[in-house]
Amino acid sequence: MPSTMLQEPKMTQDRAIELEAARLPIPAADPSPATEPGPPKIQSVPALLVDHVTKRFNVSRKKPPVTAIADVPLRLERGSTIGILGANGSGKSTLIRLVSGLLTIDEGRVEVFGHDIEREEMAVKRLINRVSVDAAFFKKLSPMENLLFAARLYGVEIGLARQEAVRITGRLGIAEKRLGRPLEQMSRGMQQKVAIARALLTSPTLLLLDEPTTGLDPRSKLEVQTFIEEIRESHDASIVLTTHDLEEAERLCEEIVVLNDGRIVAQGSPNALKRLVAERHGEAPTMHNVFMTYTGRSLDEDVEEGDPDDE
Ligand SMILES: Nc1ncnc2c1ncn2[C@@H]1O[C@H](COP(=O)(O)OP(=O)(O)OP(=O)(O)O)[C@@H](O)[C@H]1O
Ligand SMILES: [Mg+2]
Repeated sequence: MPSTMLQEPKMTQDRAIELEAARLPIPAADPSPATEPGPPKIQSVPALLVDHVTKRFNVSRKKPPVTAIADVPLRLERGSTIGILGANGSGKSTLIRLVSGLLTIDEGRVEVFGHDIEREEMAVKRLINRVSVDAAFFKKLSPMENLLFAARLYGVEIGLARQEAVRITGRLGIAEKRLGRPLEQMSRGMQQKVAIARALLTSPTLLLLDEPTTGLDPRSKLEVQTFIEEIRESHDASIVLTTHDLEEAERLCEEIVVLNDGRIVAQGSPNALKRLVAERHGEAPTMHNVFMTYTGRSLDEDVEEGDPDDE
């Protein structure tokens, strides 16, 4: 295990900072080094440490690369939930995919519970789980078959996996009789729930949720949100969540990071961020105004950046 405890500023619950997109230095880290020799104490290891990570995409030979994530630092303490807000194309999914090892990092490094995601890939894989709107499933197979397949990959004993699959899907509002039918016959919302169940079944410690409630009807959305709250307690999960739903972010996240053009432009607890826009920018203290102030646009104005045809 890399014993270097990367020194990143630790956000307190009620402090917010705003950072210029033009790479203001991150507030100085505590300079006192981790003096004790030997492995770091378990409490001091953050669930996730993103150490000034940059990711560029080459979209075409003629154009310069797109910088999707630019010099991003992030620290998530064990058991807490961080919300990533940002307009379409601001880099949220790219950040999630970098942390889950689906994309290579151009600069910087990522640690999950102290394990370097590039050098200790297998250890990290066991500790993270990503749920995205386009979850990859075997669509011809049933939810139960998909869940048991995932459980096997993660080495969960099959009898236990089956019991847990029934329990977890039941909690998410999926009737047991639906577990045997092909997944492709289920609605997108139901499939999303199965994706979340799959993540939970494999006992994730770091849960990466990329827009987990996008496209769900209000009732399903509430169920998923309630469930996310519950698993934090019951599974000792640390969660990174991207969302376009500001109420959801406020409800579920102790800390919010606002991304704009791949850079962190503001960070803090929902309350502290609201206070900041009120005090510094004279805006009413709402999450909507936090979003507006730091991304320079409203949710309604979101525009897709980049040219998808180039991908
Ligand atoms: N595979 C790729 N190849 C080229 N460019 C990419 C690729 N993936 C993302 N990008 C670009 O990187 C930037 C960030 O995209 P990303 O999908 O991370 O944004 P996002 O914040 O998740 O947006 P949304 O809210 O729409 O989900 C965009 O400019 C996008 O076009
Ligand atoms: Mg996205």
